[in-house]
Amino acid sequence: MRVLVSGGAGYIGSHTVVRLVAAGHDVVVVDNFGNAKPAVIDRLEALTETNIPVHAFDLTDKDKTEHLFASEQIDAVIHFAGLKAVGESVQIPLDYYQNNLESTFSLLRAMRRHGCSSLVFSSSATVYGDNAPVPYQEDYEPLSAASPYGRTKVMIEHVLRDVAHIDPVWRIAVLRYFNPVGAHPSGTIGEDPQGIPNNLMPFIAQVAVGKRDRLQVFGADYPTTDGTCERDYIHVEDLAAGHVAALNRIAMSNSPIRTWNLGTGTGTSVLEVIHAFERASGRTIPYDVVARRAGDLPAYWADPARANEELGWRATHTIDDMCADTWRWQSENPHGYEDAAPPDE
Ligand code: UFG
Repeated sequence: MRVLVSGGAGYIGSHTVVRLVAAGHDVVVVDNFGNAKPAVIDRLEALTETNIPVHAFDLTDKDKTEHLFASEQIDAVIHFAGLKAVGESVQIPLDYYQNNLESTFSLLRAMRRHGCSSLVFSSSATVYGDNAPVPYQEDYEPLSAASPYGRTKVMIEHVLRDVAHIDPVWRIAVLRYFNPVGAHPSGTIGEDPQGIPNNLMPFIAQVAVGKRDRLQVFGADYPTTDGTCERDYIHVEDLAAGHVAALNRIAMSNSPIRTWNLGTGTGTSVLEVIHAFERASGRTIPYDVVARRAGDLPAYWADPARANEELGWRATHTIDDMCADTWRWQSENPHGYEDAAPPDE
């Protein structure tokens, strides 16, 4: 299949590109490079030993999106592109609603006009809101989210349901990610956050490599085993494999839309992540316990049974694997893609 990967230069998108090529697909990338570096593409071409066509524009541009579909024969789309920082979304909500929704509308219209009906959409565990029983199961309703970022995911899930309902030719996979971490085992692609990392694993990695002094642990008084929050960390390589499995599944499916959790089914605490990273890196991670971060839930993880059964997919990497691969990426590219040597030097 010729697969368009929107946000293909981003963290999860880039790892998925590698998996798609390995599975025999042709890949076309569209990315506005707002939160990704062009150097990612060189790394991807080296890793996959293929030439990857790249369209550098924002999908909110309807004319360019239309032109892309007119010029490339696209069979399926994996839609990662979007703004994704929870805290930032509270500060600039209109940008989040406009960017994430309009890019999806533009994509859906162009797909429909050009007879392309297979879509894999990046959703998030955040759509389960504050009250869903743990482990989270796909049928839980109503969807809700505590941030504008999360609400764009809820809204797009509803848009996709409505579109699939009235036009059952669609084949849509909605994938709800838990906490993606880790990097490609080659150490050549990984997560490259701009500025101060919002998320736990990249922050720990930057402390380990000496870029930041100390980690702040947001709360140790939660009703959990060690008092710190528990999350379902999933290796980005497992996540990428889940996208390829979902693409195969919808190609054979009779139903226009289906939702799958992509998680391991296990909760890991903040302190457990810190200790796993210390083992993987051989470095001490100094930390201070500080106040809780607003909006954090104490503990949640996925019920991955539906994805295990229907996609024939299962997360296989442990938290130690996730830390080892994050450390390889971080230690070999201390400043991310910015000033690292090209892979063949
Ligand atoms: N944490 C710290 N210190 C830090 C950063 C995080 O202690 O410097 C803690 C948080 O309090 C939380 C855990 O580490 O308990 C994980 O936090 P992350 O920010 O890494 O991840 P979240 O679970 O908060 O966020 C994830 C995704 C979001 C998604 C959200 C809700 O990154 O995209 O889950 O599902 F919206």
